Amino acid sequence: MSLAGRSVVTMDDLSNDEVEAIFSVADEMSDSLHEQSSVCQGKIMASLFFEPSTRTRMSFEAAMLRLGGQVITAVDIGATSLAKGESIADMARVVGSYADIIVIRHPWEGSAKVVADYAGVPVINAGDGGHEHPTQTLLDLYTIKKERKSLRGLKVALWGDLKYGRTVHSLAYALARFGATILFRPAPGLEIPDHVVRKLVTEYGGELRRYGTAERPEAGGLFSLDAIYVTPSTPHQLAMMPDISLQVELEKGVDAIYVTRMQRERRDTAKGEGEIRRDYPVVDKRLLKEKTFKETLVMHPLPRVDELAYELDADPRSMYFKQAARGVPVRMALISLLLGSRKVDTGGDAKGPRIGKSHHVYDRGFGVRCQNRNCVSVNEEKYIKPEFKIVSLKPLTLRCVYCEHETFPKYVASAEWHEGTLKSKRYHSSESHWIKKIRPENLIIFDSESEAQSRGFLPGKHAES
Ligand code: NCD
Repeated sequence: MSLAGRSVVTMDDLSNDEVEAIFSVADEMSDSLHEQSSVCQGKIMASLFFEPSTRTRMSFEAAMLRLGGQVITAVDIGATSLAKGESIADMARVVGSYADIIVIRHPWEGSAKVVADYAGVPVINAGDGGHEHPTQTLLDLYTIKKERKSLRGLKVALWGDLKYGRTVHSLAYALARFGATILFRPAPGLEIPDHVVRKLVTEYGGELRRYGTAERPEAGGLFSLDAIYVTPSTPHQLAMMPDISLQVELEKGVDAIYVTRMQRERRDTAKGEGEIRRDYPVVDKRLLKEKTFKETLVMHPLPRVDELAYELDADPRSMYFKQAARGVPVRMALISLLLGSRKVDTGGDAKGPRIGKSHHVYDRGFGVRCQNRNCVSVNEEKYIKPEFKIVSLKPLTLRCVYCEHETFPKYVASAEWHEGTLKSKRYHSSESHWIKKIRPENLIIFDSESEAQSRGFLPGKHAES
């Protein structure tokens, strides 16, 4: 099936074969960058960038111009009707009637999905808050593939702000799917979120190992306090080794180290994340002298601040400017494929790939809200119905379909209450046996007792866990 007419909101919107197909079109395009000017002639791309951007916006726009298309652009929420209180959905409908494809960057997690749901034309997520940035991942993977010739069996270290770095989240998902071992080296307090790790484990079959601990960071060495993720393609190779063997394994070297800046704009000052950190890990000449990094590609999505020393710019291992340059052919390939101006057949069906497990969806639209205050579903609740994948029953875990943050609601009830009499309309603790007894399609979920009671439910015998 072709990519024509589809949107790319998360990495899960592309199969591994489609990623490889995009790369082969990108290869062709980069070999003849100046001969593509009739590919998207007559097409218009809207580029909506409601957060700062240099590389992503300009490379998307350069890509469309090189393809012979035209660009309309908005770069400031304050200059659009969103500032007058217009919803993202209304904006999407309108812009979708002006342009053939939309590229959007917005500070709310899940915002690109809403644009894709309403625009009626292909939408590309150029970064939605701290959630995902799939086209950055495409050019990151493309760079690794160019330098290492293959995407299979890689060992990649993710470095810096793993909590709010959306590029890191998309990259981790993609690497896992290609069978990589991922090492995490977060700045203290900016560890990879649990929901991201859980998705790596449950959807892509990974295995999580913790080597260092707060009490014994030396067990992790360079990757102290860190988790290591091993996919089934390297079964238990690291996982079965004692702590010390990790060092032996690391000495064999890592393929790439992916450095990120602290995402200051996303920090939660209420949680004390506001202050400048002196313990943010820095990548410099001294670090790269470690045996582990002898042949390591040094990558960064840019912009850099203090985490990556300028002294490395002339080092042949440094890839960051190459990455940025490759953004153009990769985005040319993606735009032309989504517009149907270029075609590749990679199997699959028109709706796009089915990546990961299928889960029952809780879409009653009441009872439970996403707990992430930066989620689009919380900020545009007038028309967005909360929707969650039920990813686990014990403990009850819901994954928001917009931002993918998890919530752990405490109460459940059945839509089929016994004998249909009001007095048996009861809610129960989600930790009680009821969670297994109620059929998924009958499940009603509440995040508080007051929510359950406001819907006319009474506490059951097992309302307490
Ligand atoms: C990244 C982003 O916007 O998430 N930049 C980019 O697109 N190249 C990384 C960052 O801003 O730190």
